[in-house]
Amino acid sequence: MARHFLTLFDLSSEQVARVLEVAGKLKRDRSLFRNALAGKCLGMLFSKSSTRTRVSFEVAAAHLGMHPIFLTTSQIQMGRGEPPEDTARVLSSYVDALVVRTYAQAEIETLAEFGSIPVINALTDLAHPCQALADVQAMIEHLGSARGKRMAYVGAANNVSNSLCAVGPLVGMDVVVVCPPEYGPDDAFMQRCYDAASAAGTCIEVSAELSAVDGADAVYTDVWASMGQEDEAAERLRVLSPYQVDEALMARTAEGAIFLHCLPAYRGKEVSAAVIDGPSSRVFDQAANRLHTEKALLLELLGKLDNWE
Ligand code: CP
Ligand code: NVA
Repeated sequence: MARHFLTLFDLSSEQVARVLEVAGKLKRDRSLFRNALAGKCLGMLFSKSSTRTRVSFEVAAAHLGMHPIFLTTSQIQMGRGEPPEDTARVLSSYVDALVVRTYAQAEIETLAEFGSIPVINALTDLAHPCQALADVQAMIEHLGSARGKRMAYVGAANNVSNSLCAVGPLVGMDVVVVCPPEYGPDDAFMQRCYDAASAAGTCIEVSAELSAVDGADAVYTDVWASMGQEDEAAERLRVLSPYQVDEALMARTAEGAIFLHCLPAYRGKEVSAAVIDGPSSRVFDQAANRLHTEKALLLELLGKLDNWE
């Protein structure tokens, strides 16, 4: 059966550890696994804009010897009503893995169910699991480890905060989502995160209080209006303004704490320019890590790390 990556619940903590270890080696030595997936093709089906995810997956494919085929939903028949079930069956007969960026998590689940190749979630409204792998790699690089560390996500709960909550138990990291009640996380997804945290012995909290940032090792924020929420931007700006990550908020964190953002960022909204362009910011390392974690993920899902020591 194909190995999918629709959410972080699809990977064990051992698999995440292996992907991160290989990603670290790939970052140090770009010749490692060069052309390891030669002759294979990577389908990339996007319904939303992307800079990092699109380019990092295309470059990842090139380094591994795969041929990437970028498709937008509006350019293929699915955009004219061909069912995702049929699209999945057809694409499975041509390409060896499919990277999908779309709105509904249900769509990506259908593509995975009806196809026979690994499907990778490159962002849905519910989750952004590829981003969380790169985020943890940045924690490891700059804090030595994610294990035992406390991450405070501040702003509007969304796909990115959901994936941070999901990755926490897999890597031994505590996560607090600091958000106004109006823009809290998805209850059903969070229940799965709470269950995973309780089994792993880590902590996940949701708080409306900025004091929840006190002592955090990393502060993370993301846009207040995600793709698809543009109509709500003015109201979100009004409600979320007190949650801007600025120097006063960063002053509440542990010594040596880092600032993370998945990007794109809007200076003066979710983060001040002084923080994102300041000494604690690691956002461009984080973005760079997308390439290395995605190469490792492709190797893992296509079975190349099964005998990895
Ligand atoms: N962080 C991220 O996923 O960026 P893109 O939307 O540019 O892919
Ligand atoms: N939450 C943002 C992330 C962009 C990478 C969005 O979905 O638009």
